[in-house]
Amino acid sequence: MDGNGRWAKQKGFIRAIGHENGTKSVRETVETCAELGIENLTLYAFSTENWNRPKLEVDTLMKLLVSSLKKEIKTLQNNNIKLNAIGNLNSLPKKVFKELHEVITKTQDNTRMTLTLALSYGSREELISVVKEISNKVKNNIISLENIDESVINKHLYTQNLPDVDLLIRTSGEQRISNFLLWQIAYAELYFTDVLWPDFTKQHLYDAITDYQKRERRFGKTSEQLS
Ligand code: IPE
Ligand code: MG
Repeated sequence: MDGNGRWAKQKGFIRAIGHENGTKSVRETVETCAELGIENLTLYAFSTENWNRPKLEVDTLMKLLVSSLKKEIKTLQNNNIKLNAIGNLNSLPKKVFKELHEVITKTQDNTRMTLTLALSYGSREELISVVKEISNKVKNNIISLENIDESVINKHLYTQNLPDVDLLIRTSGEQRISNFLLWQIAYAELYFTDVLWPDFTKQHLYDAITDYQKRERRFGKTSEQLS
């Protein structure tokens, strides 16, 4: 979800207004995905690198997160959506952690879609934690070195209960991954759009999905093998 700051700047507003308007796109995207029968949606809301932004902006984003969680619990319940979070959640301010935990608990039995928020998330940090956990298990003879395979790695990632990414959408014209789900996007289809996140609507999401539907996902095989 990129481009909140530029959206605000273009309109002569402070960056916080861009973030505030970005929450509308979040609601619309979440509801549309649920309507479409998408079972998993992951939103990159705050990266480990975002902590390096000016304190005022970080504080604004954290406050917005708490108020959005309080406000949107209704949307989640009405749409039967389960909230999940990935990232270094212990580094979040106590208030955010508490609210997040509360909404996760309240929505845990919802079944239509899982909405995962990547918060204080960085893929490299995630992979470091995987290496540490697995090394520790090897050291304590819980796993043998020979048995480390893709499924062992998968089980130790923050995304352990989620499938691989099918479609990754980045808004605002930037064409890079920025430390997001590096392992999990190995075979994802990438979609970049110039639309700034606060302008991203249901129609833009449909456009991305229509584009995705035209892709041939070969997973290393030949086209002939697929048909
Ligand atoms: C995305 O918008 C929101 C977060 C990263 C939290 P940006 O804040 O990155 O907006 P730009 O890139 O400055 O336009
Ligand atoms: Mg940005």
